[in-house]
Amino acid sequence: MLSDRVKNVQPSQTTELTNRVARLREQGEKVIRFNVGEPDFKTPEHICQAAVWAMEQGFTKYTPVMGILELREAICEKLERDNHVRYSPGEIIIGAGAKQCLSAALLAICNPGDEVIIPYPCWVSYTELVKLADGVPVMVPCREDFSLDIPAIESVVTDKTRAILLNTPNNPTGAVYSESSLREIARLAMKHDFYIISDEVYEKFIYDEGEHISIASFSKEVKERTILINSLSKTYAMTGWRIGYTAAPAEIIRGMNTLQSQIVSSIQSLSQKAAVAALTESQKPVEEMVREFRKRKDYMEERLRGMKGVSCKSSKGAFYLLPDVGACLGKKDGETVIENDYMMAEYLLKEAKIAVVPGSAFLAPGHLRFAYTNSMDEIKAGMDAMEMALGRLV
Ligand SMILES: Cc1ncc(COP(=O)(O)O)c(C=O)c1O
Repeated sequence: MLSDRVKNVQPSQTTELTNRVARLREQGEKVIRFNVGEPDFKTPEHICQAAVWAMEQGFTKYTPVMGILELREAICEKLERDNHVRYSPGEIIIGAGAKQCLSAALLAICNPGDEVIIPYPCWVSYTELVKLADGVPVMVPCREDFSLDIPAIESVVTDKTRAILLNTPNNPTGAVYSESSLREIARLAMKHDFYIISDEVYEKFIYDEGEHISIASFSKEVKERTILINSLSKTYAMTGWRIGYTAAPAEIIRGMNTLQSQIVSSIQSLSQKAAVAALTESQKPVEEMVREFRKRKDYMEERLRGMKGVSCKSSKGAFYLLPDVGACLGKKDGETVIENDYMMAEYLLKEAKIAVVPGSAFLAPGHLRFAYTNSMDEIKAGMDAMEMALGRLV
């Protein structure tokens, strides 16, 4: 018999879809994957070589729970260089990807019944990670243009509010929160004394002018209220290496360290050496990848906007589009009415052989989430097939 904790948590819908599509492909189906939230690029060669070298040197044992000092120092340098916020290695802990960092951070700060504000549409895992930590997700809709609705956020703050979970650039909307809205969030966090959990895993994927803003950089007081989470997964095409990190006040890091010492002992040793190379050596592969993503985004936005019944806001960051397909719902495939985004995603999988995630998984019903983590050829073929499939609905 499973615990209530497990029963109360939904499995990740994106992971489930990924597994299902993988099975279809194994059976020989040619499905184009717009569902996968990971770069289709290879991990750059020099990063792989650092792991090979570490393995040859026998660097294959447990490491400190917090992660190797060399990596935590490289992260401090990176945070100062890129994000203009100064941390010491005692304020950094390495985790098995940003997901595990988020989980450990929530476990470290939440008491049963504590509330965590989550603006939505949001990444599928946030609500479940909060519930796993015995917290209560408090969902607040973003504005029509996917920006933060500050008055709506302030209106749900109570004396139980423990944190807000922010993700900019955003999965699934592609929104990049403005400096003024981040300053407002910082003001609320100080006024009402709650933490800002800032998930910055897509920080390098920005397509407008300007760079990513880390909320912790605003002031010493804001930094003390911020739990900054980042990862190498997306930036360096290293999803399988499972390296993320948290930068936060030392007390929180010590709490997370206690949890991790009992749960994982330490993070993969070779991946940590590879991460040092990623952060300290050439950043050219990242720039090239972002340039390519921008081309794909521009192309896909134009194609989606050209489809009848589809409207698509411009994505400013990350590598996702969240087009609204509401005007296509209610149409028929033969006798079957396509009533909602789940049915639309099924229809497109069957008829266009493209895999997309129903927006409802991110609390955006009537939408579909596309990741442009495919070659241009695949994107073109996928868009053609989708346009034709939508055109067959009556
Ligand atoms: C917003 C967001 N945060 C965190 C993660 C997890 O990243 P990692 O591979 O570092 O665990 C993802 C992955 O899709 C994500 O979209």
